[in-house]
Amino acid sequence: MLTKARIAVLVSGGGTNLQALLDAQTAGAIPHGEIVLVISNNPEAFALERAKRAGVEALTVTKKDCGGTEAFETALLAALEERKIDLIILAGFMSILSARFTDRYPRRILNVHPALIPSFCGKGMYGLRVHRAALDYGVKVTGATVHFVNEIPDGGRIIAQKAVEVLPGDTPETLQRRVMEQAEWILLPRAAEQVCEEIVKEKENEP
Ligand code: GAR
Repeated sequence: MLTKARIAVLVSGGGTNLQALLDAQTAGAIPHGEIVLVISNNPEAFALERAKRAGVEALTVTKKDCGGTEAFETALLAALEERKIDLIILAGFMSILSARFTDRYPRRILNVHPALIPSFCGKGMYGLRVHRAALDYGVKVTGATVHFVNEIPDGGRIIAQKAVEVLPGDTPETLQRRVMEQAEWILLPRAAEQVCEEIVKEKENEP
């Protein structure tokens, strides 16, 4: 196979989902794609270290340095276009992207959300907050969702979901870990491969 989809992963924190993608790539589970860029909006993100260890180019782009949301998105778009990125994966990226950004990559941006959308999602629902909300509500089953990203936070078409049990005595931290292990780290690399294969087919059919 000659062509591979060029993947950029956008991160903000620990980067365990990035790690799952890198490990899947090493294991040959993403044959139609290649992670060529990691961008963090947080200079302290451990995800940057993971990218470095894997020999993947890593950039930090912050709203603060750019002087606002519009300039931040312009800088992101420039970095992505310069490297001819085909697929953007939001893996714990804690910044909402505007329509101006998402319209440039229809069905070419993926996000992993740590709940079963449409539960516990939307603006303000991210990271541990999602698990805290699930525990406060008292649900007995939660999970993770991988979906396409459009201008509505967590509103794009769903690609994959997996349910995970909530156990008695769970804290937001224990639940987060179980959802990652049993759902996110499995679903995200799979969905990435699925979309990369689509992209490669499309490229091969180009005149
Ligand atoms: C993950 O649980 C991810 O689903 C969630 O943040 C965590 C990041 O962990 N993302 C969101 O809540 C986005 N709405 P990681 O940095 O270790 O991958």
